[in-house]
Amino acid sequence: MRLFAISDLHLSSTFNRAALAELESYPEDWIVLAGDIGETAEQLEFALGHLVKRFDTVIWLPGNHDLWTIDPKQHPLRGESKYRRLVDICRDHGVLTPEDPYPLWPGEVGEGVPAPGRIVVAPMFLLYDYSFRASHISEAAAVSWAAESGVFCSDEELLDPAPHSSRQAWCHQRLALTESRLAAVAGNDVNLVLLNHFPLRADLIELADLSRFSIWCGSTVTEDWHKKYRALVVVHGHLHQRGTHYRDGVRFEEVSLGYKPQWNRQLGIGAYFRQILPVPGQL
Ligand SMILES: [Fe+2]
Ligand SMILES: [Fe+2]
Repeated sequence: MRLFAISDLHLSSTFNRAALAELESYPEDWIVLAGDIGETAEQLEFALGHLVKRFDTVIWLPGNHDLWTIDPKQHPLRGESKYRRLVDICRDHGVLTPEDPYPLWPGEVGEGVPAPGRIVVAPMFLLYDYSFRASHISEAAAVSWAAESGVFCSDEELLDPAPHSSRQAWCHQRLALTESRLAAVAGNDVNLVLLNHFPLRADLIELADLSRFSIWCGSTVTEDWHKKYRALVVVHGHLHQRGTHYRDGVRFEEVSLGYKPQWNRQLGIGAYFRQILPVPGQL
């Protein structure tokens, strides 16, 4: 029994959709879908239709693309309403979301891994608040600061925060809500697997010439959550830069698939599932 994670399937791409349909079965395993599965409710339905029958348990959380409103005449849901619609689709398929009780991991953790007790798997929806910006730039000036270097994010036009006053306000509501839930489950006998679309720390982001894109990538509020909530592993996507990093001895996994040029179709999507538990190398 394994816990796998993947993000950024971007099923708006017919190339990626065709590959998902060819996936083999993993009847004893869990899979985390860590956001940017697609951009429409239909694309989420497509993903879950293929995945729930291939896995024991599926866990979903939203990315920024999932929350886009691309064609408001055909699909008018926006912001919180779009999110709630996607949560309802997950529930119709028996898929866990950030709105459900956090499940306990019933499998092995890995031989020799210092994990004292229960493992709680926590899918989160946290968004971003422009706080990953240079210290001399105000929040109000963050988007124009990014634009000065030629960087723009389509979320500015497509990710409507309604009914929240801004995406930052929505983010702060999600941060407060999630902190209270994590605090309620955290304890000396609990380790957490934290799952979020956006990286929890700015120092996990390496964007080179696009460095100011970081304002759309997370919040400084979560900088210490891996320590505060005794994380065993932290999973994120969004950056399309697959990799494993360590901070304070905690493993951070970036689990993106990405667009056509960013992965090898011959290997199949399954080759890009990242094993989260049991801890690889400890089997
Ligand atoms: Fe993405
Ligand atoms: Fe994303």
